[in-house]
Amino acid sequence: MPERTPIIAGNWKMHRDHLEAIQLVQKLAYHLGEEDYEGQEIVVCPPFVALRSIQTLIQSDKLPIGLGAQTCHDEDEGAFTGEISAPMLARLDVRYVLCGHSERRAMFGETNEVVNRKLRAVQRHGMRPILCVGESLEQREGGDAVDVVVDQLRGSLDGISIADASELVVAYEPVWAIGTGRNATPQDAQEMCAAIRTEVGELYGAGTAEGLRVQYGGSVKPGNVRDLMGQPDIDGALVGGASLSSEDFALIVGHRRH
Ligand code: 13P
Repeated sequence: MPERTPIIAGNWKMHRDHLEAIQLVQKLAYHLGEEDYEGQEIVVCPPFVALRSIQTLIQSDKLPIGLGAQTCHDEDEGAFTGEISAPMLARLDVRYVLCGHSERRAMFGETNEVVNRKLRAVQRHGMRPILCVGESLEQREGGDAVDVVVDQLRGSLDGISIADASELVVAYEPVWAIGTGRNATPQDAQEMCAAIRTEVGELYGAGTAEGLRVQYGGSVKPGNVRDLMGQPDIDGALVGGASLSSEDFALIVGHRRH
C-alpha cells in the first residue's frame, strides 16, 4: 500500500484580517518544532485579503507551511464582480483550494456542478483541490449519509481524469459536526472515509483510491485529533475553529508527540 502523507489544514473561514493573520502564522511557527513538519503537510487557508501577506511571510521565514484558499471562481477572468480566479491564486503560490465547503453549498448555492467547474479551474492552474463533502444531521438520521456523500463525490468528480483525481484531497465534513463541538466518533468518521475511498476506487481504480488522502473535518480539537487520525482511512484533518488559536492548532499538528 502506498504511504499517504497526512495533511492537516486550517480553514480560517471569515476570520482574521491580514495583520492578525501574520500574527497567527508567526505564533504557530513559534509553537511548532522541526519534527512537526516531518512526514506531514501543514496548510493554512486564510481569507483572500491575507493571502499575499502570508505568502510573503512563508517565503521570507522559509516556513514549510502550505498556503490554501477557501474557494475561487471557475472562470479565469471576466465580469464577475467580487470574485477571485484560480490564476490569481496560483500567482500567490496557493497550493490548495477548498472546493464545495458545506457553508458554500448551503449559503452560496454551490451545486455539485459548480463544484465540478471549480475543481477543473483549480487543477487547470496547477493547484490541488480539497473537495469537501458531508451529510446533514437529517440525512444521517435518515440513514442516507453514505448515499449523500457518494452522490456529492460522483457529481463533483464528473469527467475529472484519473491524473487529476490522483492529485485530489477529499475532506469528509459532516455538517452537524461543523462548529458544534460535536465531532463524529472516530468509528463513524472512519466508516465514511473508507466509503469515500471505495467510491473513488470504483471511479478510478484501486491505485488512485489507495493514494487518495481523505481528511476528516468537524470540531477537530487537540483532545480528539489523535483518535481520529489513528483510523486507517483518515489521512488528515480540516480544522475550523481550533485553527484560529495558534496553541490549539499547534497541538493538533503536533498530535504525534503530545
Ligand atoms: P470546525 O472545526 O470549527 O468544526 O469547522 C470545521 C470546518 O468547517 C473546516 O472546514
